[in-house]
Amino acid sequence: MLIIGHRGAAGTHPENTLGSIDAAIAAGADWVEIDVRSVDSGLIVLHDEQLERTTNGNGSVYDLTLAELRQLDAGDGERIPLLPEVLDRIGARCGLNIEIKQADIAPALAAVLQPVLRARPAWRGRIMVSSFLEGPLREFARLKPDGVELAALSDHNSVEAQALALAIGATALNVSLAELSGHVVATAHRSGLRLLVYTVNETHDIERCHRLGVDGIFTDFPARAIAFLREQPRI
Ligand code: G3P
Ligand code: MG
Repeated sequence: MLIIGHRGAAGTHPENTLGSIDAAIAAGADWVEIDVRSVDSGLIVLHDEQLERTTNGNGSVYDLTLAELRQLDAGDGERIPLLPEVLDRIGARCGLNIEIKQADIAPALAAVLQPVLRARPAWRGRIMVSSFLEGPLREFARLKPDGVELAALSDHNSVEAQALALAIGATALNVSLAELSGHVVATAHRSGLRLLVYTVNETHDIERCHRLGVDGIFTDFPARAIAFLREQPRI
């Protein structure tokens, strides 16, 4: 079961910061998940549209310029990262799941990833782009560079999300823990999709995912999940 650090290691570090990503890698995460938005044509790594929860800023991210956003503290004195900074920092040492949080960023995202994949072939198969947003995901699927994987995200209708995943040539279906069942796992597997589950933090839920044959979990506590897996007999 793959361990995917959710927003880095958001349970122990300020989410979606380089420090949080470093912590997930240090814990041994197979992949790191981040959320991406676009401001002034720059791709920034930030979950919420509103700034209050994760930064010392106020209001909507879209009311500030990129330069102003970069002055903010995203936790522990860190700036809101740019996507290229994250790609540089990881350097293909683990996989990167980029979750599109906003419409109209597919072309900019493809434009950032294309040269990275060309310059560093080790990234091939280690970048997965996902979204709850059908339009941007379909658009990215048309533009995506070779070597980038796709996943459809579901928060309440995994049947619809699975159909979308298959329609765009995705390799994974990413569902919420609330949607998880043996049937959802079996249906995804029958369609040739990997089934990934978010956000799985409690040990009994990690155990359940493992037991159901889930392919990977997004967790705020990658060190905890890896410690759990190390204790399991190989299956
Ligand atoms: O991609 C999995 C998960 O991150 C989706 O939900 O709200 O945490 O971005 P959210
Ligand atoms: Mg996310």
